[in-house]
Amino acid sequence: MDLISIRDLNKETVGEILDLANDVADGKKKPDLKGKIIATLFFEPSTRTKLSFQSAAMRTGMSDLDFLADLSSLKKGESFADTIKTVEGYADILVVRHKKEGSARLAADMSEKPVVNGGDGGNQHPTQTLIDLFSIRRMKGKIGELNVTLMGDLKHARTMRSLLYGLSMFGANVTLISPKGLEMDPEYIKEVEEKFKVKVKTKNEPEFRDADVLYVCRIQAERFADPYEAQSVMKKFRLMKSDLEGTKKELIILHPLPKINEIDAEIDKMPQAKYFEQAHYGVPLRIAVIDYVLRK
Ligand code: NCD
Repeated sequence: MDLISIRDLNKETVGEILDLANDVADGKKKPDLKGKIIATLFFEPSTRTKLSFQSAAMRTGMSDLDFLADLSSLKKGESFADTIKTVEGYADILVVRHKKEGSARLAADMSEKPVVNGGDGGNQHPTQTLIDLFSIRRMKGKIGELNVTLMGDLKHARTMRSLLYGLSMFGANVTLISPKGLEMDPEYIKEVEEKFKVKVKTKNEPEFRDADVLYVCRIQAERFADPYEAQSVMKKFRLMKSDLEGTKKELIILHPLPKINEIDAEIDKMPQAKYFEQAHYGVPLRIAVIDYVLRK
């Protein structure tokens, strides 16, 4: 099986992966994948996604082939397609990240081996969404009926697109907050609303008194046509400690990371800040994903 978009999964499958990740995190299950090889092909920068996939693979006994784009034949002009067709012969599962939307789907169409999307441009990042759902379920005991606010550059962030879909699948009440001009694609919101019979709220002001979960992402400067425009919104849209006054006592703050300056450093020390714990859940969750994908 390939895992390219959160749309490829139904609620039952997501539930199975989250349950498996839970057992892995609690030490109740330990998939044994000794002898298998994972290839991590990241054509765009990454810290968490790549390293947690590698850590997950090593913890199951797998070995990792790390494709380093800058030191590869890509530099000689080799195509993405030829790279994928070559590496699929060297590994049992491929994790692919690329700046072009649709690149992971293209890799999956070309490869006989399972392909997992590690992020394709501004489109999808399904394993990050599984980590997010896993984190919310572990920290809050449920996903449905929670008020979840997604705040940041919702136009360009693939994590937010995938997450809106995943949260709506579980019946969470989602509010989207973004600076003017960086709203999520209304067509995509409509698709999610119709599919899951939910109502998604949208705002341009940071207001989250009702939120149980506040999920922040950075301004995706690399996807702006005008870099000055990105800098100017980065200065205006920041979460400060004072913004948390009057919010729910049990509020948790999540972020896919990397964060740049959209969350004031003082917030890192507050009990609400859960983003590093969330990042650490990347390992059990990706162990579950690798095991699941290889079995299906
Ligand atoms: C995100 C990504 O690459 O989309 N990072 C991640 O995988 N945790 C978020 C981002 O870059 O803003």
